[in-house]
Amino acid sequence: MSGYLVPTKQVRVTDLQARKGDKPWAMLTCYDYSSARAFSAAGIECLLVGDSAANVMLGYSSTTSITLDDMAMLGAAVVRGAGNALVVMDMPFGSYEASDEQAVRSATELLQRTGAHVVKLEGGVRMADRIAALKRAGLAVCAHVGFTPQSVNGLGGFKVQGRGDAAQAVREDVDAVVKAGADMVVFEMVPADLAAEITAQCPIPTVGIGAGAQCDAQVLVWHDMLALPEGGRRPSFVGVFGQVGAEMSRGAAAYKEAVETGTFPLPEQNF
Ligand code: KIV
Repeated sequence: MSGYLVPTKQVRVTDLQARKGDKPWAMLTCYDYSSARAFSAAGIECLLVGDSAANVMLGYSSTTSITLDDMAMLGAAVVRGAGNALVVMDMPFGSYEASDEQAVRSATELLQRTGAHVVKLEGGVRMADRIAALKRAGLAVCAHVGFTPQSVNGLGGFKVQGRGDAAQAVREDVDAVVKAGADMVVFEMVPADLAAEITAQCPIPTVGIGAGAQCDAQVLVWHDMLALPEGGRRPSFVGVFGQVGAEMSRGAAAYKEAVETGTFPLPEQNF
């Protein structure tokens, strides 16, 4: 049961901000109702409807291929299964870069169509105006700095950001998003010591992916974390916590065999 008059223990941005410097929390990508139910039941505080759905759900080679309509459909399904978890919506490529007005319009549409709580966009200094505009519109915002997959071509491929002299640019990106009012910030593929240094000084929660253990939270793409599909190349920073791909293939093969040998359906499965 949900609705305006039903009390909930909804996780809010302020709850996660209050945990800064305390116990780390977990964010996990999520793209549909059933996995949202499973992750929420596991106590995952925050579900990210990532544009990585372009890769792991839709099979595109780039996150730039997913549209606002695609994201809205996935996000609405996640919210229906999310229980009390905070739901963050990635703003897809092409939905916010052109102007502050475009960003506010797209973010508003995403939140209205999904019921999600927070929008996330990629970029530091270059997106500070967009973040400020979203905050003026009253939205909760998650920034994303370091490696930003929507800019993979501009960044020359999947590369760690912030090594050596490039560390200063990451510091400036975080400074800019904090000043613009971001509520939390994802660090992707940033050296662990830099992420730790920034986390210690940054007033908002930092969420690491390939950014070491000192961030305030961690995020992973669930298909990587649970090895779906089986095999394939995964980034070196991924921790694997289950073998869902292997189990799905095993179950599908067992079903096929049962059909072929006539052991499914059994008499008790008939009407
Ligand atoms: O889309 C996504 O899954 C993300 C994570 C990599 C943080 O943005």
